[in-house]
Amino acid sequence: MELCVIEGDGIGREVIPAAIQVLKKVVPHVTIFHAPAGWDYFQQHGTSLPEETVELAVRCKAVLFGAVSSPSYPVDGYFSPVVRLRLRLQTYANLRPTRYLPVPTARQGVDLLIVRENTEDLYVGHEQTTDEGQTGIAQKVITRAATERVARLAYSLASRTNREKVTVVHKANVLPQSDGLFRRVALEVASNYPDIITDELLVDTAAYWMVKDPRRFDIILTPNLYGDILSAMAAAWGGGLGLAPALNLGDGIAIAEPVHGSAPDIAGQGIANPTAAILSLAMLLRHHWQRDEEAQKIEAAVYHALKEGEHTTDIFNENAISTQAFTDRICEAIDALA
Ligand code: NAI
Ligand code: MG
Repeated sequence: MELCVIEGDGIGREVIPAAIQVLKKVVPHVTIFHAPAGWDYFQQHGTSLPEETVELAVRCKAVLFGAVSSPSYPVDGYFSPVVRLRLRLQTYANLRPTRYLPVPTARQGVDLLIVRENTEDLYVGHEQTTDEGQTGIAQKVITRAATERVARLAYSLASRTNREKVTVVHKANVLPQSDGLFRRVALEVASNYPDIITDELLVDTAAYWMVKDPRRFDIILTPNLYGDILSAMAAAWGGGLGLAPALNLGDGIAIAEPVHGSAPDIAGQGIANPTAAILSLAMLLRHHWQRDEEAQKIEAAVYHALKEGEHTTDIFNENAISTQAFTDRICEAIDALA
């Protein structure tokens, strides 16, 4: 087993070593290759994603990605390395689960999975400025091919994991050519799965339900940008961004990557919550390496540590412990539960 590890910026450098410590506990023979990417690397070397990093990722077929900082203004030559890597590796589906964890910030009974299209839509950032900087234009592209492959993955996953319902989320009433195509193709794929209930929601209504009653959802199938936003909302019900894992999945290739970003407000203090990164690795074990037993071990240990009341400051301040101490507690729980 080979894993290409890209820590990136900010707390990526703190949560990724923690996740690797846990991974080595359940799969001691994994071979780790480190590779650079991100904003800091861009400032030193003029690229945010060196070609050698992409090559290594392709060779390993499995990547653990921390987080990167991306500026909110145009910078010549800069692009988001994680968006680019998802494209280069054709990880066409982004799986973002939210399941109740025993922390006071989480909501009981929530168990949903967002399947986000990962290679097109506004999110890939095809933009330009015209009119001497007075007009910004971004291109939203939705294709039958990309929609079909992500919809198939969502439905086959639903069927294999005994999920009952898929909700297709879009804004086809305003965007009938692009989101309308997404909707049509998703419903075509759905017709091959009569045992799974399919319904649909406009994205604003989906946001309303996500806040009002997230237990309404089972699997959500949605284009890239809506998936990004709805998954951050869902993360709040799972107990917070520090607990929210994700897996970018393609055919025979995957990138484990927590939902959160580089968290510059807490970076360098050793207090980041490593759970999201650790649970992302559990997803990699389950869905890419087909190592369900090891994935379960990690998930059970995380649950156990949280249930015992161990936590980092993002959950709550009182008696919070450091990234390292929390990681050690999870490793101890793996031993205790063996
Ligand atoms: P963020 O996810 O980095 O942070 C949002 C809030 O959640 C902050 O208060 C942060 O301290 C907290 N938080 C996030 N993860 C945490 C963890 N593991 N433990 C404890 N607290 C945690 O989002 P923000 O602040 O909007 O973006 C910061 C930078 O990250 C930006 O440059 C943005 O472009 C980048 N970003 C990168 C992503 C990626 O690499 N996949 C995803 C989202 C943002
Ligand atoms: Mg996001």
